[in-house]
Amino acid sequence: MSPNYQATASAPVNIAVIKYWGKRDTKLILPTNSSLSVTLDQDHLRSTTTSRADPKFTQDRLWLNGKVDEIKPDSRLETCITEMKRLRKKTVEDKDPKAPKLSTYHVHIASYNNFPTAAGLASSASGFAALVASLSHLYELPVDASTLSLISRQGSGSACRSLFGGFVAWQMGTKSDGSDSLAIQVAPESHWPEMHALICVVSDDKKGTSSTSGMQRTVETSPLLQHRIKNVVPERMEKMTRAIKDKDFDSFAKITMADSNQFHAVALDTEPPIFYMNDVSRAIIALIVEYNRLSRENGGRYKAAYTYDAGPNAVVYAPEANMKEIASLIIAYFPQKAGDFKDVLGLFGAEGAKDINKFGKVPNRFNEAVAQRFEVGAIKGLIHTKVGDGPRRLGDEEGLLNAEGLPK
Ligand code: DP6
Repeated sequence: MSPNYQATASAPVNIAVIKYWGKRDTKLILPTNSSLSVTLDQDHLRSTTTSRADPKFTQDRLWLNGKVDEIKPDSRLETCITEMKRLRKKTVEDKDPKAPKLSTYHVHIASYNNFPTAAGLASSASGFAALVASLSHLYELPVDASTLSLISRQGSGSACRSLFGGFVAWQMGTKSDGSDSLAIQVAPESHWPEMHALICVVSDDKKGTSSTSGMQRTVETSPLLQHRIKNVVPERMEKMTRAIKDKDFDSFAKITMADSNQFHAVALDTEPPIFYMNDVSRAIIALIVEYNRLSRENGGRYKAAYTYDAGPNAVVYAPEANMKEIASLIIAYFPQKAGDFKDVLGLFGAEGAKDINKFGKVPNRFNEAVAQRFEVGAIKGLIHTKVGDGPRRLGDEEGLLNAEGLPK
């Protein structure tokens, strides 16, 4: 029997606070601006991937959530697998003639997301990061996470940021071969563990414009994007990096909301225009704006920051100390169906598990007229999570392939 060359890894989701939107090279996935994100805790949201190399395999194959996902020639998937094999050959096999020639074997790969794709949460970032992390362990590559980010970037731009925990910058780079367009860690999760996030999963029946096609249309048609790239993002990257290093939530919140707003403005500035937010998204903005106004009016600071990607879901970043108040506010306007709030961090204890809606509460002197109250189901899920670590190597007992090399 041939030795079993296999590795399993999990990788986290990340949500940008300075948005990536626009490519200068669509094949290599090189962005038109740098971006910065917070990695979310993979105890709650993650992709897990097992990769196995075996001389008996007759082709590279991949299963996503148990279903075959065809590896098409010249696809992003194929590029990532080919690049990982190339790195194995260059950094291991060419240096040590005794090393098994794994780069010449076909691979079987099984990947699983622990969150429903239907929730509209981007799974491509965690998915490509887990793929690259598991192959790097399989191939025992002597390279750092930034080097791996060069490859996951070619699967999906935002995936390069999921190779680190904590607070992560994707430096756009200037070279045409993309060798300097990579992710670096701005600060580890231990630097600012009080950074929590509340994901509001907003119902959305219609299929929106994908990030990939939407951003290309923006690059081709939006004059506002050119202004953003040249005059706005470089300064915001610096200010955001400083805010994170100083644990300055006030600045973090201001920049996060401004950048989400500008990303949705360039989407609107696209021809034809693209709308990602809906009435529920806008109501959540109104609640967070009023919540912050109340605090600032009393001489306080920003207490929460909203951000939206290419869909209607809201992510609210806030210091842990404010989360209960924020979740109570959201629940007051968006009553939950039993079980729709996965209170994994125990904000509301055992009572909350019985009936979360009785915790719906609006702060004193909050202007309740800023938004209408919605019916049950307008927000179909709330996930409370926090900043988390980068990809983890898992043991074989968590492997997703059976003895034959097929999904379990
Ligand atoms: C709005 O990384 O999904 O979430 O590179 O084409 O795969 P591709 O796009 P993708 O775009 C993410 C866009 C965003 C902002 C961000 O994550 O920075």
